[in-house]
Amino acid sequence: MPIVTWSDEFNINVKEIDEQHQKMLDIVNNLHTAVEERRENEILNDLLIALYQHTQLHFTTEEELMKEHDYPDYEQHLHEHKVLLQHLGNLVEGVSSGKNPSFRSDYDVSSDWVLIHIFKSDKDLGLFLNDHGVF
Ligand SMILES: [Fe+2]
Ligand SMILES: [Fe+2]
Repeated sequence: MPIVTWSDEFNINVKEIDEQHQKMLDIVNNLHTAVEERRENEILNDLLIALYQHTQLHFTTEEELMKEHDYPDYEQHLHEHKVLLQHLGNLVEGVSSGKNPSFRSDYDVSSDWVLIHIFKSDKDLGLFLNDHGVF
């Protein structure tokens, strides 16, 4: 069962970023389903790695845009990305070393942070980029 369904509210009005966010949420949903269905760790691990890699790529996209347009909150936003990536990295490490993710809270956290970050920090970034002609 998906834990989060994409809706237009998530849009920050920058096409490339919105598409990447959508893909992130897709992977989060697949991960959630896999945990619910108690799939083996190998499958969870593959999904987590996919989420990690996609998130890394996505953060790089945003960071490049911020640098290109001299975003004033660059440092703070970068810091949030680092913390989030670290959290995901810890999950990948835990599952790949055999930890059994029956505690769904770990994964719920991973969806919460995506949403909080998108709704707050990425929305602000979207407004700024729109002001600078990026859509
Ligand atoms: Fe971001
Ligand atoms: Fe983002």
